[in-house]
Amino acid sequence: MSIKKIGVLTGGGDCPGLNPTIRAIVRKADRENISVVGIKNGWKGLIEKDSIDLDLGSVSGILPKGGTILGTSRTNPYKQPGDVEKVKKNMKELGLDAFIAIGGDDTLGVSEKLYKEGLKMIGVPKTIDNDLSCTDFTFGFDTAVNIATEAIDRLHTTAESHHRIMVVEIMGRHAGWIATYAGIAGGADMILIPEVPIDLDEVCKITKERHARGKDFSIVVVAEGAKLKSQEFVLKDSKKDAFGHVMLGGIGNFVGQELEKRTGFETRVTILGHIQRGGTPSAFDRVLATRFGVKAVELVVQGDFGKMVALRGNEIVGVPIADAVGKLKTVDMDLYNLAKIFFG
Ligand code: F6P
Repeated sequence: MSIKKIGVLTGGGDCPGLNPTIRAIVRKADRENISVVGIKNGWKGLIEKDSIDLDLGSVSGILPKGGTILGTSRTNPYKQPGDVEKVKKNMKELGLDAFIAIGGDDTLGVSEKLYKEGLKMIGVPKTIDNDLSCTDFTFGFDTAVNIATEAIDRLHTTAESHHRIMVVEIMGRHAGWIATYAGIAGGADMILIPEVPIDLDEVCKITKERHARGKDFSIVVVAEGAKLKSQEFVLKDSKKDAFGHVMLGGIGNFVGQELEKRTGFETRVTILGHIQRGGTPSAFDRVLATRFGVKAVELVVQGDFGKMVALRGNEIVGVPIADAVGKLKTVDMDLYNLAKIFFG
């Protein structure tokens, strides 16, 4: 059956690169004589049948814009009884022959379930966290790393002037990719990530040794999901979202207080938060998002459903969504060990 109309949605946390992907999908679909319907606010829009037609005019000028023109939500249609049926009914009523979901592990996990139920699904991976399996990078990550690196550069000058320890808490959920990349790029004196339990004695030793050799300031990067041995995650809130995720945040303050107490060095804490997700995408993310969007439509045209587009080396390929979801991609320990050469 030839595909005449497709739906597209963006789900989960937003990230820079979503709009370039939507633009690429609409532009490539237009070349293939396929019309595109944008679903508002992730899976919520399909439950509520909230949609807009996307033509060339709708995506004009959105390439450099952060966020998503479609809106997003962390709605899980498999949570409330009856919602999946509404999703399927609305896809049919909207006349969608196939569907492209742009999202992280949660959104693509829903796509995989719908694919198993017989729907023609394609996935596009996005997240600043870069924690999705089967793709070397997700878009959004490079922009977040650049923002965090610039923040570390700025913290360096004030840390040096005041002879302080600066702790900077960085997003990334249960993977320390942004912290590791930004820490290497910004010359952090210590990088603490979820993959390696924090050893506070070691952090204190390293900062004291730096001071002893005349470097009386330190930059300590802490990923929000980092935790001490035998300790629970530090949480902003005990509430869980529709996919069962806790709200991380606060480990930076904990580490900062402990460092000041144990070393006697004045310490300040900066929590970068959602700044890392906002604003214009980097050139790398715009190109990756564009390539992903075009490839997603190519897979639709080829009828190669149940696939997620992915970056492998410098190639964009299709991989089974099932292989990508449910397995966290954690930081490569060779990279972390390289970062450790520069600690202290
Ligand atoms: O997954 C992206 C991310 O920004 C994580 O790094 C962070 O833990 C989470 O989303 C924050 O979620 P929210 O936007 O719901 O506060």
